[in-house]
Amino acid sequence: MKRRDLIRLGMLTGVFSTHGFDLFSGDKKKSSDHFSPVVISTWNHGLDANKVAWDQIKMNGDAIDAVESGVKITESDINNRSVGIGGMPDMEGHVTLDACIMDHNSNCGSVAFIEGIAHPISVARAVMEKTPHVMLVGEGAKKFALDNDFKKIKTPIPEVKKQWKEWKKQNRDKLSKPKVNSENHDTIGLLALDKKGNLSGSCTTSGWAYKMHGRVGDSPIIGAGLFVDNEVGAACATGVGESIIKIAGSHTVVESMRHGFTPQEACEEAVRRIIKVEKNVKNIQCCFIAIDKKGNVGSHAIHKGFNYAIKNSLKEVLVDSTYELT
Ligand code: GLY
Repeated sequence: MKRRDLIRLGMLTGVFSTHGFDLFSGDKKKSSDHFSPVVISTWNHGLDANKVAWDQIKMNGDAIDAVESGVKITESDINNRSVGIGGMPDMEGHVTLDACIMDHNSNCGSVAFIEGIAHPISVARAVMEKTPHVMLVGEGAKKFALDNDFKKIKTPIPEVKKQWKEWKKQNRDKLSKPKVNSENHDTIGLLALDKKGNLSGSCTTSGWAYKMHGRVGDSPIIGAGLFVDNEVGAACATGVGESIIKIAGSHTVVESMRHGFTPQEACEEAVRRIIKVEKNVKNIQCCFIAIDKKGNVGSHAIHKGFNYAIKNSLKEVLVDSTYELT
């Protein structure tokens, strides 16, 4: 399917707000144990990531492989300014990356504040599979990556370095404010339900552009940027990490699903909780996507402008998310 053929479904916002996105239209009847494999991911960069992830699911691959290979596409995209190689630096000119991954057995791995490595998501997976730990940060994470034959890269890339120098001239040491829906991307979070009925998720970002050196957001934090419970569902987050961490966002979404909420209702509940905690969210965008064990999906954001990509055997779509504030 060509990108121009993708359907944008924002006009159905009213339907999504209570029921989430119906992936089953076209199916005749669903039995109670029916589930529908699917991949979903944040923002429009999710379209390309989903293609690669779905290629694995369709071939009976494991969700954990799908979520890793999908977001690697985004990490490799030198035109992407919020994830991986082309990411924006912190105030001091360092591109520090955060990522985490979680599988259907609650195994998880994470790296934060890692610099000069192309695929933090794969390093996170190696932490999960090769160490007794969940999270490695900074120089330790980099040493682990190099010891495990991950390639070094030079960041920022020249174009980004130029931009940072300009910013530095104008702003000196003034911390930048987050911009709502900055350039229609931020973190990529990707969730997958495979043909065996197993869920996994991944999440990777270069974080807040011109952040303080050492700042870590929600994306590498299990429970904040990502959470998977194979009995219930999975969720991931994008937006201002500080606000997402305050409510353990993705875990909150999954727990709401455990107590009977649909993925859509669970995302709405988490967004409302952030608004309650933060009080003034004029410049804060936070968004969640979620999936349950049957492959029902949902999303919600504080402000207009967030979208997410869905792919299954029937559909490949970019959906405008519902949002809380008008
Ligand atoms: N959600 C990405 C970050 O705040 O770093």
